[in-house]
Amino acid sequence: MISSQHNAPGRILITGASGQLGSYVLRELRARDWPALAWCQRPTPDLFGYSCQSVDLRDTDQVIDAFRAANPEVVIHTAALSGVGDCFRDPAQARQTNTIGTKLLAELADRHSARLVYVSTDLVFDGTRSWYTETDCPAPLSVYGQTKATAERAVLDHPRHLVLRISLMFGPSINGRPSFFQQQIDALKQQTPCKLFSDEWRTPLHLELAARGLLRAASTDVTGILHLGGPERLTRLEMGQRLAQFLGCDAGVLEPAVRDDVPASEPRPRDTSLNSDRWCALFPEFPRPGFEEALASRMGNGE
Ligand SMILES: NC(=O)c1ccc[n+]([C@@H]2O[C@H](COP(=O)([O-])OP(=O)(O)OC[C@H]3O[C@@H](n4cnc5c(N)ncnc54)[C@H](OP(=O)(O)O)[C@@H]3O)[C@@H](O)[C@H]2O)c1
Repeated sequence: MISSQHNAPGRILITGASGQLGSYVLRELRARDWPALAWCQRPTPDLFGYSCQSVDLRDTDQVIDAFRAANPEVVIHTAALSGVGDCFRDPAQARQTNTIGTKLLAELADRHSARLVYVSTDLVFDGTRSWYTETDCPAPLSVYGQTKATAERAVLDHPRHLVLRISLMFGPSINGRPSFFQQQIDALKQQTPCKLFSDEWRTPLHLELAARGLLRAASTDVTGILHLGGPERLTRLEMGQRLAQFLGCDAGVLEPAVRDDVPASEPRPRDTSLNSDRWCALFPEFPRPGFEEALASRMGNGE
């Protein structure tokens, strides 16, 4: 098991601290009692004892000033306009936040001799094959994927930084905000119909493991691109069915959906499963439990 044994990698700045992933990172930091500075966009109450500073990545001067004041040694950059639909509806905002904001942070980190760990996504791939490796070429289909892929290149211009691509995350929301996973739990418990794709594959990763993985990677000097997905290649329908079984609910309310039947503004990648062999070779001790095992050991805190 990965544990809190690792030393703090230095003064940590986490962006997107109020998000689904960011809040899990803060909880992990609190468990280790590591000091950290937390940034979010909107005013947010303290989370796990960390106060969140509002810094808008679209405001260059604000970011430069706040970065200088923070003077971090490690930046864990999770902030993003993360909704695929939101990015499609407002591509300018998506580019400003995801690409230009990330480029600025990567440059500032480099200038301040800090290391940046950038959270990217399996959606930089077009989904025409399976088990993508770090050497496969990104070919995003969505505005979201394009903004993240372009940001990756800006991060990789700086040799001490790391791009950590993660897959679809699941797990209870611990930041008090709704999430798709939480909606599925509600639908199953209340037995209300819920449509889930049966022809799109990901390698889902529990939020807690994604957060631990980020801290593990941030504690090293690993650079370049690294994939961290879960060990199983699953559709959203399979995830829903296994969640139903785990919760002891009837899965009959889950309706299969296929991509051709659902009108979409942008093409959707069919299979963006991630190959995590590089991760496993670097961190053989890191746990990679299957879907139910991850749920069983990690549902308690947010449910
Ligand atoms: N969710 C997934 O399954 C998944 C899969 C692969 C990769 N990722 C990547 O993982 C990261 C975290 O995703 P998530 O699901 O945790 O996202 P999330 O819940 O939507 O959180 C996004 C965070 O970014 C902040 N943010 C948004 N716009 C900002 C801006 N202009 N300036 C400063 N901060 C801003 C938000 O702050 P406010 O709350 O204050 O608005 C929030 O803290 C993202 O980089 C995403 O691309 C996510």
